[in-house]
Amino acid sequence: MSGRAVDLSNNLAFGEVFPHATFDWLREHDPVHWHEPTPKSPDGEGFWVVSRYDDIMEVLRTPDVFPSNTGGERTGDGTTLKDERVAGKVLNYSDDPQHRTLRQLVNKGFTTRALAQLEDDLLIRANALIDAFPEGVAFDFVQAFARELPLQAICIILGVPQEDRTRLCNLIELGLEADSPNMVAIEYIKEIQVYAREIIAEKRSHPADDILTTIVHAELADEGDRRLTDEELVNFFILLFPAGAETTRKAFGAGLRSLIEHPDQFSKLREDRTLMRSAIEEIKRWTTPSIYKRRIVTRDIDFRGRSLKEGDKLIVWEMSANRDERVFEDPFTFDVACWPNCHIGFGFGPHICLDAALARLELKVGLAALFKRIATFETDGSLQWVPNNRLRGLKRLPLRIIFKGLMDE
Ligand code: HEM
Repeated sequence: MSGRAVDLSNNLAFGEVFPHATFDWLREHDPVHWHEPTPKSPDGEGFWVVSRYDDIMEVLRTPDVFPSNTGGERTGDGTTLKDERVAGKVLNYSDDPQHRTLRQLVNKGFTTRALAQLEDDLLIRANALIDAFPEGVAFDFVQAFARELPLQAICIILGVPQEDRTRLCNLIELGLEADSPNMVAIEYIKEIQVYAREIIAEKRSHPADDILTTIVHAELADEGDRRLTDEELVNFFILLFPAGAETTRKAFGAGLRSLIEHPDQFSKLREDRTLMRSAIEEIKRWTTPSIYKRRIVTRDIDFRGRSLKEGDKLIVWEMSANRDERVFEDPFTFDVACWPNCHIGFGFGPHICLDAALARLELKVGLAALFKRIATFETDGSLQWVPNNRLRGLKRLPLRIIFKGLMDE
């Protein structure tokens, strides 16, 4: 990669800055690139790096060739570079017909009605969080807001009691930050599993009006009306919690930072709130919190002139797709008015994000509340990024704000 090489299998590689220059070069010169194994590569294996938008779409919409539910000959599998052992046991590590069955089941809970009920509650919570912001002195926006609002939203939807929410979020955060794979991360996951079993038992004996109850009691029509096993339910819980709480939090932190970094765009949005819809999509494109997915090649094929072999690992980089100059006119310009915006920040194909609508709602409610109450936002101190190159976002965003006066609101 002529001096631009970055070890993409090093989980800490993107701690500070996403290596856009590397991907610009790859898109131009080597769009389906073989990444040799490095000391950081899980199991010492190399992998394919797919960087162009159209090729990534092709991979994501062709699960019979590039599935999510197998590791090939490996004992593990998954959509991250390192193997997990959950193939076929959880939604995002399954393919049709099982994937369709599971997705239909969980969709029963994620309804438009459930979202509409959430909006007022989220606004009240957003305002309460803003009330607690100190004025004129630095505080961490991620802890004070970006982490809290999505956490509350997914917990309300799942039916996690208020008193358990912070502990659970801490565990998931620690698991994600641990360098892969190590005993520390495994211990956190075990603790989350214990909690998941307890709450599933509770929903079974005391049904409530929440998604977890719906999933616990749902019958799989395609599979003789059986219910999900405890193991399947635990896996669902473990998927939904970080999928809901971690991704949106990352979009909030990095999104607000992008607005502060582009004051002209920030003013434009504040002056014309009809731009909120396009701004949220641009934040998704620009920040792309979920930056890559792994698939496995199931048969020897020629793909864009490269010979892929059965069992090869293949990684598609949505962050790179979202900066592809073949698709976006000016991909390195942050434009809150950009519309339509065909980014793939929520993925594409059968595994496209299950609840992009919830993520959009949280961002809409949260940003609107912030803009309504706060006159100025400034960063004050050093940013800190989460050391994880699969889910990328800010760990710390030090901010100084001035509230609006009564006459300004
Ligand atoms: C900014 C916020 C979010 C981003 C950037 C995001 C991104 C993504 C992406 C890229 C995928 C595709 C995974 C793949 O191809 O393997 C995905 C899937 C998924 N997302 Fe999200 N997501 C967000 C918010 C949410 C929320 C709020 C939920 C609520 C529970 C959620 C639940 C899921 C689930 C369950 C899947 C797996 C779907 C399947 O395999 O069929 N996501 N998300």
